[in-house]
Amino acid sequence: MKSVRNIFLTISFVLVIFFFANSAISIIITEKSKKGISGVSKELSFDYVEEKTTKKTADLEIELGKKLFFDPILSKTGTVSCASCHKPDHGFSDDKPVSIGINDQKGDRNTPTVFNTSHLKFLFWDGRAKSLEEQALGPIQNPKEMGETIAGVLTKLNKDPVYVKQFQNAFGRKSIAVLHLALAITAFERTLISTDSDYDRFLSGDSMALSESANRGLALFNGKAMCIACHKGPDFTDGDFHNIGLPITDDVGRSKISVTSKDTRKFKTPTLREVANTAPYFHSGQFETLEQVIAFYNAGGGVDTYKDPLKKPLNLNEQEQKDLIEFLKALSGRQVEAL
Ligand code: HEC
Ligand code: HEC
Repeated sequence: MKSVRNIFLTISFVLVIFFFANSAISIIITEKSKKGISGVSKELSFDYVEEKTTKKTADLEIELGKKLFFDPILSKTGTVSCASCHKPDHGFSDDKPVSIGINDQKGDRNTPTVFNTSHLKFLFWDGRAKSLEEQALGPIQNPKEMGETIAGVLTKLNKDPVYVKQFQNAFGRKSIAVLHLALAITAFERTLISTDSDYDRFLSGDSMALSESANRGLALFNGKAMCIACHKGPDFTDGDFHNIGLPITDDVGRSKISVTSKDTRKFKTPTLREVANTAPYFHSGQFETLEQVIAFYNAGGGVDTYKDPLKKPLNLNEQEQKDLIEFLKALSGRQVEAL
């Protein structure tokens, strides 16, 4: 009798787990206060289980996230929105070497694109955030970016009847919580996918979609120039960190997060989607044009003890360098319809 009961209990347990795993998506956001890391000023930690929403509420979430992304209400001074730095007409980045936040403060790094970030294992140049949800709360609290507190933003939003209504429609809760703020923003970010570039059309069978020069550039990208060693996959990133021998600054990159000296001045391989629209380049914004970037790679990068061994002179002639740039230009898609 006892063993029958045990079997029954085991089956029930398995069924409960199975049901739970299928009916819920769990997003765990933990952001611990770490001294000296920009974007994180207070301890935030919560677990969340989201009952998956209907198409209608998903659309409301995206619409709300888009409004928040463009709204300076998220900053202390009411002057800076996410889109102040991630500009839709600049490939969702900006034209400054390093970003400019509230009260015209200079940030530490170049603004990366938000396009195609939903699949990234690590976010930020040093990979200090592991999900878009975790990332989204960083800039709001970064004193050099939006300079607000989460409590401050929530107070402002909860006083705004239009936002309260919109959050209620999207999440079914009467008051706005930090979780919903993060979920709405990231629901919008996940729609920012650069597609239908000349290269995508080429891949889907339109052999004329790439110019002759871009076609030669593609062969170089995958061959002699070895770009694909790091810029691989549909988003042109291995999701890993490398030191490519850029001019040395105080920024030690990944090693500050991993606390491992071999990661010194390693930064995340960025996507190359929309890259023709996102100048200036690299984490430091030190390079103004793609021509300069390619000349730098062609020379094998600069001098750094920690430089990636893959970085060697490429011996590309002038035409080959132009071809590579033509290929990079073919990675810009049509602008997102809604914007
Ligand atoms: C003042 C300019 C500024 C503002 C405002 C700003 N960002 Fe950023 N964003 C940056 C910079 C600079 C980085 C890179 C920082 C780093 O790596 O240390 C970044 C990184 C990111 C990334 C990571 C991209 C990647 O490839 O890792 C995402 C996603 C992002 N921001 C979204 C947002 C959202 C959402 C908001 C609004 C809540 C926002 N940003 C507000 C400048 C800004
Ligand atoms: C060893 C890995 C590696 C190889 C090989 C490599 N890259 Fe990169 N690439 C990176 C990393 C890492 C960064 C970011 C570096 C930084 O900012 O510190 C980067 C940045 C870039 C950028 C700047 C993008 C931006 O948004 O600022 C461009 C453009 C680029 N690479 C193109 C290329 C091309 C073209 C090739 C081939 C000639 C190539 N890369 C080869 C790892 C690599």
